Amino acid sequence: MDFKLEIAKKIGSLTDMEIDKVLDLIEIPPYANMGDYAFPCFQLAKVMRKAPNMIAKDLAEKVEKDNIVEKAEAAGGYLNFFVNRGEFIKQTINQVLQQGDKYGSSQEGEGKTVLVEFSSPNIAKPFHIGHLVNTITGNAIEKIFRHLGYKTVKLNHIGDYGTQFGKLISAYKRWGNDEVIEKDPINELMKIYVKFHEEAEKDPSLEEEGRRYFKLLEDGEPEAVALWEKFRELSLKEFKKLYNDFNIEFDSYAGESFYSDKMPEVVQILKEKNLLKESNGAQIVDLEQFNIPPCIILKSDGATIYATRDLAAAIYRKRTYDFYKCMYVVGNTQALHFKQVFSTLKLAGFDWADNCIHIGTSLVKFADRKLSTRKGDVIFAKELVDEAVEKTLEIINTKNPNLENKEDVAKKVGMGAIIYTFLKNNMDKDIIFSWEDMLSFDGESGPYVQYSYVRGKSILKKAGDIEVNPDLSYLQTEDEYSLVKLLGNFKDVVKQAADRYEPFVINRYVTELAKSFNKFYNTHPILTAEKEVKEARLALTKAVTNVLATGLGLLGIQTPESM
Ligand code: ARG
Repeated sequence: MDFKLEIAKKIGSLTDMEIDKVLDLIEIPPYANMGDYAFPCFQLAKVMRKAPNMIAKDLAEKVEKDNIVEKAEAAGGYLNFFVNRGEFIKQTINQVLQQGDKYGSSQEGEGKTVLVEFSSPNIAKPFHIGHLVNTITGNAIEKIFRHLGYKTVKLNHIGDYGTQFGKLISAYKRWGNDEVIEKDPINELMKIYVKFHEEAEKDPSLEEEGRRYFKLLEDGEPEAVALWEKFRELSLKEFKKLYNDFNIEFDSYAGESFYSDKMPEVVQILKEKNLLKESNGAQIVDLEQFNIPPCIILKSDGATIYATRDLAAAIYRKRTYDFYKCMYVVGNTQALHFKQVFSTLKLAGFDWADNCIHIGTSLVKFADRKLSTRKGDVIFAKELVDEAVEKTLEIINTKNPNLENKEDVAKKVGMGAIIYTFLKNNMDKDIIFSWEDMLSFDGESGPYVQYSYVRGKSILKKAGDIEVNPDLSYLQTEDEYSLVKLLGNFKDVVKQAADRYEPFVINRYVTELAKSFNKFYNTHPILTAEKEVKEARLALTKAVTNVLATGLGLLGIQTPESM
């Protein structure tokens, strides 16, 4: 039974409002003494031309009391509902235990496909921290939408196209050493690429040579193509190591190059719609009506650019997947680019451009910067991940040296700590990265939430088999009720995270749930309580660990069984 829905039905039958509308309006009051749910009467007041507090009063009298609603009270323009606690506790816990990891899911996405494009690094270039933030955020977004019943497709729009690959081929032919490259492909390819630029300063003919190779590549000359493919494969192999660590599998690696033969059509469409304009030799789409700079389609030398490929990609994706939404998880710094691309699509008559969404991730700022970075300011994702796991292992070695599967736990906890940190705040804020906060076991951190889960698990383990049908009316304290209330909110939380494209909503939720659980179990005995109370509390504990694991799972954080 969904208490919120039942309350919405009651309001619906007393007013002319549609249930969905009522559901949207119902709030969770900020204080417990205001009840469990509140219905604001301000919208009704406008329609009914009556004061909101009068409507609330009137409704309070009329609402039927039963085993769902115990009391309804008017408070100003709000109608506050107090649910039947015993019933609520029973139904919520049973629902969690029955549904397991499906708890909080829904069918809202049934029959709809959403695309989540994320990670999208560039080949032969380092996978930097920004890419890691996008990878982690996109992975969470995908899981959240999947939990809501959408069919999801994970796309990796690899940066594998551009004149730089002509230069790289030239550099490879001059200085490339396969043996060295195989060992550390990305660094080595970068090295020879940098060397190319250094040498080109002295000898400008190199630039010409690079351009020639790019032309050969574009024309499909076998040797150039084979080399490019090799760089691509080697880079992907490196990237996939990281994806593997995070258990991420993409459905498609169609990158920029995939769209290279699909661009003439884009130009054609824009031409037909009379949208192409010449400007200093380049072909552009004017976007003045949107108050943004024009979208360049063809450079003065006729070459396409990043934006042209994104236009082709969007059109291709719509045709291939007929998406309900296409989400692009890419740094905020590219916000203008996506506005230009989406506005151009819109001008070209593709109304589905409204369903293309840029989820703009934030920058990472280091609070206590002590990374062993080899190269200036570029921070490599892999280094960060490795360091987090190493540091976690050190902590385990001092705190719990005899722990089984130490390495595995360190991996789950170290990586969980990074994920938690990246998804801690909404995307309007910079991400503050501090080793100390991140790995602390008792602040607001990944390890803290994981540890709460582990505590719950160890209680359950000590208890052995737990009663399948305990009498939950033994859960009578305020702490227990607030804990169950949180469990009951999970569904709304998942939905809110999806509606806002903000995984941090779930992050904040699991943190609150962990805190509430710790408070409960620090003040109320579980294993030593009398039989009935113990059984009921164990069921509650089991439900909490269940939801903690599901919530963390939606963020991409794994739960160790002990730590
Ligand atoms: N490869 C780009 C970069 O590293 C990100 C690609 C973003 N996706 C897109 N469809 N433009 O900055």
